[in-house]
Amino acid sequence: MSANDSPQGQQTKQQSRTHDSAFLKACRREPVPHTPVWFMRQAGRSLPEYLKVREGIPMLESCMRPELVTEITLQPVRRHKVDAAIYFSDIVVPLKAIGIDLDIKPGVGPVVADPIRTRADLARLRDLTPEDVHYVTEAIGMLTGELGDTPLIGFAGAPFTLASYLVEGGPSRNHEHTKALMYGDPQLWADLLDRLADITSAFLKVQIEAGASAVQLFDSWVGALAPADYRRSVMPASVKVFDAVAGYGVPRIHFGVGTGELLGLMGEAGADVVGVDWRVPLDEAARRVGPGKALQGNLDPAVLFSTREAVEAKTDEVLAAAKGLEGHVFNLGHGVLPTTDPDALTRLVEYVHTHTAV
Ligand code: CP3
Repeated sequence: MSANDSPQGQQTKQQSRTHDSAFLKACRREPVPHTPVWFMRQAGRSLPEYLKVREGIPMLESCMRPELVTEITLQPVRRHKVDAAIYFSDIVVPLKAIGIDLDIKPGVGPVVADPIRTRADLARLRDLTPEDVHYVTEAIGMLTGELGDTPLIGFAGAPFTLASYLVEGGPSRNHEHTKALMYGDPQLWADLLDRLADITSAFLKVQIEAGASAVQLFDSWVGALAPADYRRSVMPASVKVFDAVAGYGVPRIHFGVGTGELLGLMGEAGADVVGVDWRVPLDEAARRVGPGKALQGNLDPAVLFSTREAVEAKTDEVLAAAKGLEGHVFNLGHGVLPTTDPDALTRLVEYVHTHTAV
């Protein structure tokens, strides 16, 4: 279904302007002039121009200033000539917007003042309205004017990954409180994930209606689960999110780290494109995901600290494994590491473009 006959409204001007981009073609599994490239966390600390404009402005505050968001989102597009921009924000922004007391601590990540662990706590998760995140609509309006035919990717945190921050109260290695709730009170857990699915769906809809041409659902930490637990306790909420935005006709990307054993289920959850980390080669990932989906990935971000020859050799491996795919979007297997040399990223984009040009 194209967005034009979608029950969720007209394709925006930006969505039609970007329709024939290499990135959206690859997502739709159509032939491409070259393999499109973008990087998770392409905006951020690896760029000196980012550090400069962020000086003295806390992370969450910077996400609420449309002019700053526009500038930061455009920085990697200008510098690296990537094939897509990703909206500059964070997965906890919609939670902050509905009044959850949280902060993003430098070098740590999101920290929640009062974790959510009881049924009474659930009441603190109210619905998200477009007015709660008016600055997102404003920023995307500015951005699409600047981006021309370069697509903008909107994103949100998936219910499990958001729940892990809310239940733990911050980043966690073992997710013990999260799993304690999931196994110990399955009904409360299901209700929590369902609330988060509604909030996430509303946040993605705001971004698509403002002009995002694709969306990515980050379930970064779901690789902590076995497939049976994923299917039973997480998948229904992620399915709800993908269903909520299906009618717009924009590609939906689904990504998590360490999710080799979950790739099939993550595709089944409703994604058009499945993101793969560096642990599973893309040809093997395609067997696990099955036909009818494009793949995104999957150079190990740490490879960029090696020699130029090593980066090129590892990139060749990724491109060779991607040869038979129905659609391939080149990316790293996780986000750009903060101390990455930005020139290595610029060279990588050029290398992929020239070595895949038809
Ligand atoms: O360029 C882009 O990819 C867009 C920006 C983006 C940010 N966060 C900005 C950010 C995106 C897509 C995210 C998503 C996000 N946030 C995820 C999913 C992606 C992933 O890495 O798996 C997660 C798990 C978070 C939670 C979070 N926020 C973490 C773990 C951190 C890092 C903590 C640190 O300081 O090392 C943050 C903070 C954050 N989000 C920064 C940026 C640029 C760093 C803060 C800063 O620059 O001051």
